[in-house]
Amino acid sequence: MGRLGLPESTPLRRYEPGQPLLDGPALVVGAPGARLTAAVDRILEEAGADARHEPGDDTSPLAAIVFDASGIARSEDLSALHDALSPAIRRIGASGRLVVLGTPPEQAADRRHAVAQRALEGFVRSAAKELRHGATAQLVYVAPGAEGNLDATLRFLLSARSAYVSGQVVRVGAGDSPAPADWERPQAGRVAVVTGSSRGIGAAIATVLARDGAHVVCVDIPAQGEDLAAVANAVGGAALALDITAGDAPAALAAHLHERHGSVDVVVHNAGITRDKTLARMKRELWDAVLDVNLSAQERLNDALLMDGLVGAGARIVTVSSIGGIAGNRGQTNYGASKAGVIGIVDALAPDLAQRGATINAVAPGFIETRMTAAMPLVVREGGRRMNSLAQGGLPVDVAETIAWLASPASGGVNGNVVRVCGQSLIGA
Ligand SMILES: NC(=O)c1ccc[n+]([C@@H]2O[C@H](COP(=O)([O-])OP(=O)(O)OC[C@H]3O[C@@H](n4cnc5c(N)ncnc54)[C@H](O)[C@@H]3O)[C@@H](O)[C@H]2O)c1
Repeated sequence: MGRLGLPESTPLRRYEPGQPLLDGPALVVGAPGARLTAAVDRILEEAGADARHEPGDDTSPLAAIVFDASGIARSEDLSALHDALSPAIRRIGASGRLVVLGTPPEQAADRRHAVAQRALEGFVRSAAKELRHGATAQLVYVAPGAEGNLDATLRFLLSARSAYVSGQVVRVGAGDSPAPADWERPQAGRVAVVTGSSRGIGAAIATVLARDGAHVVCVDIPAQGEDLAAVANAVGGAALALDITAGDAPAALAAHLHERHGSVDVVVHNAGITRDKTLARMKRELWDAVLDVNLSAQERLNDALLMDGLVGAGARIVTVSSIGGIAGNRGQTNYGASKAGVIGIVDALAPDLAQRGATINAVAPGFIETRMTAAMPLVVREGGRRMNSLAQGGLPVDVAETIAWLASPASGGVNGNVVRVCGQSLIGA
């Protein structure tokens, strides 16, 4: 037992360069009609993982179970989940992975197939709450015809990079998804912009994208100039001191990208602020500040980059929402509106970006250990930390790794998703 009498949490396995995809064997099981097991076998083989198709009688730990439920065509046949996983789930080891694959209900063959596939969501979200010791569970709906687009997503969800992601539903569809020459450096030769990157989550995003090979243009307000220069230097990128709410910010960013690079491959909208007060006490300035930084400025930047033709085929926009934008938070009507609006940007732009051969997705962090959360009163902080299936806060790098997956050239089939990085927070959907 730790402070406040709460149970101690298990340290999560996190990614380090050169680390194998899995630290033990994976069991791959397909229900009748499964159409994704061949893709899974190929992906695991290419990643050098030890894949098995029979559970065997032993009880030795498994690093992962991948269950292909895509062919389950009637609710009566969902019992295949029980039969395969009721004994095997106990064998999932520390920081192990359960990944269930399905067919998007809206693209199912008929009504009964759609119902059975929709049921997978409740199964996975509940199983995720039963797993222990840092293990996670996710559901990936793969559209018919998009079987070849699963690589980046399966690798991410199985690896230690997805340490703080659990209970999520990801949709993989059409879209050019070229495999990188080197999975350790998928951003080689690409240019990324990260707003709010002088510290916190933004600095971690810049660091991870640079590790993955990107040239990173780090953007933050002039007052953060010193920290911004330090981050830009550390990642071998460029510092661009810019208040994103300034009237000339969109033109200034577009001009920088035009002059130095001619285009941009990755745009991460991370800059964000909070100005909390209950609505009855909230001054108009607090409302305006949060909506402008978190939402409207981002829309203006997107408009400028899209109109200028800087965002073309293979480009990735990733925006940082919050579970507060999904579940709502007392004292955060401004922040909740802005972060729900960010999800609205994803919904509104995804079809346009698909037409360009590009994508837009959002991450929604939960409790992440930053200066912002360190400043919370102890009881609120410990509550926030523990109220999730992994019983701990996430790290900035957990958000950054999730963004790096969505920003990968190989993630072309992942468009219009909102992925929470919250350890399956008990707050919100
Ligand atoms: N920390 C968490 O637990 C958490 C949870 C959910 C969502 N988020 C979101 O993650 C993002 C990063 O949060 P963080 O915790 O690292 O916060 P942070 O305050 O440490 O960093 C935010 C950065 O954005 C910059 N910024 C603010 N206004 C700007 C402007 N007008 N122009 C350019 N840059 C500006 C700040 O200077 C700062 O460097 C934010 O969008 C935040 O809402 C954080």
